[in-house]
Amino acid sequence: MSEFVKVARVGDIEAGTGKTVYLGGTPVALFNVDGEYFAIHNTCPHEDGPLGEGTLCGCVVTCPMHAYEFDVTSGECLTEPAYRVEQFEVQVDGDDILVRQSVD
Ligand code: FES
Repeated sequence: MSEFVKVARVGDIEAGTGKTVYLGGTPVALFNVDGEYFAIHNTCPHEDGPLGEGTLCGCVVTCPMHAYEFDVTSGECLTEPAYRVEQFEVQVDGDDILVRQSVD
């Protein structure tokens, strides 16, 4: 089962940037790609860098620790294909940005 949880408001994240938000206890990197929002797990699978603090260029975020690149629309790592981060579904409801959370 899953449900959408509010994690931010439209306007909290400028286009071309990202932010770390929390979905329950899970850190999630939320990005604004030209007005469309994407969410991936915040923790880089290389050495746990915070992807929400990375630099976004188009739909690619660069990890602030060792510059591995991830496609925020898919969670794929462009630098090392063996790495991948979990992707979360995002919805915008009025001024609220919601991310889907799995519920047991
Ligand atoms: S921790 Fe992200 S590239 Fe190393």
